[in-house]
Amino acid sequence: MAKSRTQFVCQNCGTVHTRWAGRCDGCGAWNTIVEDDPDGGIGGQPNAASARKGRAVALATLSGEAEEAPRVGTGISELDRVTGGGFVRGSAVLVGGDPGIGKSTLLMQAAATLARQGNRVIYVSGEEATAQVRLRAQRLGAADTDVLLAAETNVEDILATLTDGKRPDFVIVDSIQTLWSDTAGSAPGTVTQVRTGVHAMIRFAKQTGAAMVLVGHVTKDGQIAGPRVVEHMVDAVLYFEGDRGHHYRILRTVKNRFGPTDEIGVFEMSDKGLREVANPSELFLGERNEKAPGAAVFAGIEGTRPVLVEIQALVAPSSLGTPRRAVVGWDSSRLSMILAVLEAHCGVRLGNHDVYLNVAGGYRIAEPAADMAVAAALVSSLAGLALPADCVYFGEVSLSGAVRPVAQTALRLKEAEKLGFHGAVLPSGSAEVPAGKAGGLTMVESLPDLVARIAG
Ligand code: TYD
Ligand code: MG
Repeated sequence: MAKSRTQFVCQNCGTVHTRWAGRCDGCGAWNTIVEDDPDGGIGGQPNAASARKGRAVALATLSGEAEEAPRVGTGISELDRVTGGGFVRGSAVLVGGDPGIGKSTLLMQAAATLARQGNRVIYVSGEEATAQVRLRAQRLGAADTDVLLAAETNVEDILATLTDGKRPDFVIVDSIQTLWSDTAGSAPGTVTQVRTGVHAMIRFAKQTGAAMVLVGHVTKDGQIAGPRVVEHMVDAVLYFEGDRGHHYRILRTVKNRFGPTDEIGVFEMSDKGLREVANPSELFLGERNEKAPGAAVFAGIEGTRPVLVEIQALVAPSSLGTPRRAVVGWDSSRLSMILAVLEAHCGVRLGNHDVYLNVAGGYRIAEPAADMAVAAALVSSLAGLALPADCVYFGEVSLSGAVRPVAQTALRLKEAEKLGFHGAVLPSGSAEVPAGKAGGLTMVESLPDLVARIAG
């Protein structure tokens, strides 16, 4: 009999260690490493005698077959946009997010619309009893649909439930952290258990052609709890994010084998569930105070869609030896870079100042195109001068202090115009500037040029 191996796995990030340690090298978390059985759930040793021969097919002979992945559109357009036109049959999607952000709500709404279209939908809840799920469905106006509910956590039981009767078209498993299997040797909630459960669900989806949605909770530091190991197993990963203090929620693609990875869907949480927000800019700009110094409106792009959002900066004299830098909604190293460029090339002294930067409404920006808007907000706050209220900013800043044009200029300007912003500050040399628009546009050459225009 083979000697059983043991290994130690971090429950936070999935890093495998050969011996136990208090702190994980992979993610830096404390007390997350537990002993684990690597063969658990995989079914023990391989057996050459029972192996079946597969079939290799020439790629060229496959042409014409299944050109478009067959999809199940939910009819919720913000959700369909993020998945690339609906959930793909035979694929598995992981929906991650903080507890309480609205994952179960969103998926129950999707389940209800799919069931109304005549699909066979099964909602497997390991977190709530069927009565609780029904109560939520009632609140969402979905209680009269044919969605089938199952409150199970055991993987073998779930598979038995799913294969009982007609094949399901759409399966939701809420959540992967509750899954446990008899075949995996380790305790429920461990990486091995979650991985085994997810593996079984994915195999079910591939074999039956059902669209599978797996829900996963995210820990404080933003990883899907336990299994980051699960992310590579599934076909798409969506994150549901938002700020507890605000009502809107953003569904973001981080991986998608069948569609775009830079789209967002915007929702607003109401007392009757999630409502789609067709024009996110109006929402993010809703609470603006136009006369305050330190606020600049950034014309951004998310995937194919323009999003206008306010960037707020507060620059204040510091009483600390090392001044504070705090950022919400943007990359903090990017802020350090902009501060360094302002110091080095524009003569803006920020060494004795605390700097706070906030992207309004809990929105998160990933684009470098926000550099100019951030710089404008910082300079405006330091100088105590409000920026023009009807002006947007975009452009990338390089370490030399030059500003570089960014993609999709026309789309950004069009969205700004639509929302009543008649001016724009953008890098000179920007392509595709609409002919009639030149009047309201300020083309800046460099960051010193921008600073001079703001501070006068
Ligand atoms: P839920 O979908 O249970 O979150 P998750 O599955 O991500 O843990 O959503 C829970 C929150 O949403 C809870 O705080 C209540 C709120 N909510 C509403 O505001 N309106 C609604 O119609 C529903 C169903 C929930
Ligand atoms: Mg839930």
